[in-house]
Amino acid sequence: WVLMVTAQSPTNIAVIKYWGKRDETLILPINDSISVTLDPEHLCTTTTVAVSPSFDKDRMWLNGKEISLSGGRYQNCLREIRGRASSIEDEEKGIRIQKQDWEKLHLHIASYNNFPTAAGLASSAAGFACLVFALAKLMNVKEDQGKLSAIARQGSGSACRSLYGGFVKWVMGNDVNGSDSTAIQLASETHWDDLVIIIAVVSSRQKETSSTSGMRESVETSALLHHRSKEVVPKRILQMEEAIRTRDFPSFARLACVDSNQFHAVCLDTSPPIFYMNDTSHRIINYMEKWNRFEGTPQVAYTFDAGPNAVLIARNREVASLLLQRLLFFFPPLPDTDMDSYVLGDKTI
Ligand code: DP6
Repeated sequence: WVLMVTAQSPTNIAVIKYWGKRDETLILPINDSISVTLDPEHLCTTTTVAVSPSFDKDRMWLNGKEISLSGGRYQNCLREIRGRASSIEDEEKGIRIQKQDWEKLHLHIASYNNFPTAAGLASSAAGFACLVFALAKLMNVKEDQGKLSAIARQGSGSACRSLYGGFVKWVMGNDVNGSDSTAIQLASETHWDDLVIIIAVVSSRQKETSSTSGMRESVETSALLHHRSKEVVPKRILQMEEAIRTRDFPSFARLACVDSNQFHAVCLDTSPPIFYMNDTSHRIINYMEKWNRFEGTPQVAYTFDAGPNAVLIARNREVASLLLQRLLFFFPPLPDTDMDSYVLGDKTI
């Protein structure tokens, strides 16, 4: 027999960024962060996990290609889930698995991203959230979402926020064992559904410095990062929570933009400096700033993760369609900008 579970998980985009760990193994951050989870139709991972007595070892395929499960991050997630597995019984199929059997049974895992992994768009967030959720269902784990988010966190920090839809806060926590470093939902996906997210793929090249090594270098060398995590982010988190609660777009946009810019300033303050954005990213920022100033009140927020691609959040559908027209007019796919496509995420959040 083979028992299977399939799950789907969307990626999330941080509007107050996570950058820097206080514990690299448990993946514990140095500040709280806030994100929006995309609608599952766009940028999502689909993962099928299967168990059978005929499987002789744990194996995983990512986009059809077998990958190694020996890395610490995968092992930590598998161990945490196996340790919480419960017995299951399916009389119809004649399947009976006792709690202790899970330690001996092996898994086959197949995971697909519906977006190009090479585009440098957060794939680990959706990937680990989906893996942990699917495994927990398969193994009848009776933990709440918060606990599952803390397990997904050990795969990739930002993954803990993809266990919830809508607006999500990853609370950094204080415990050395990480038990209180989990995600909580601030508002559901229906709370602010005017917002539309457009992702402008500025470059589909793989980023040179991974988030993991980039943030390690920033923690070691950037004085600005320590100022940011202690003095700036705690206040910003409160202001962002309030902006989300009251659907105050001007405050939301201002906070998201300054936080993205400070994160990239931290990257420049790192030694040697890390450059995630390129000239096209800078031109997009310039354009959005001018547009917002011209209108007198912000219409669009921008945020950039560890790469040059722009995540643009329009205040409503009308602004989003105008934004798309303007992007295509001012930033046509030119050979020197290597902007090759736009991914439109309507029906977002
Ligand atoms: C810039 O979650 O990919 O996107 O925990 O090392 O796997 P690891 O890093 P990751 O870092 C994400 C960084 C970011 C900001 C954010 O998503 O908050």
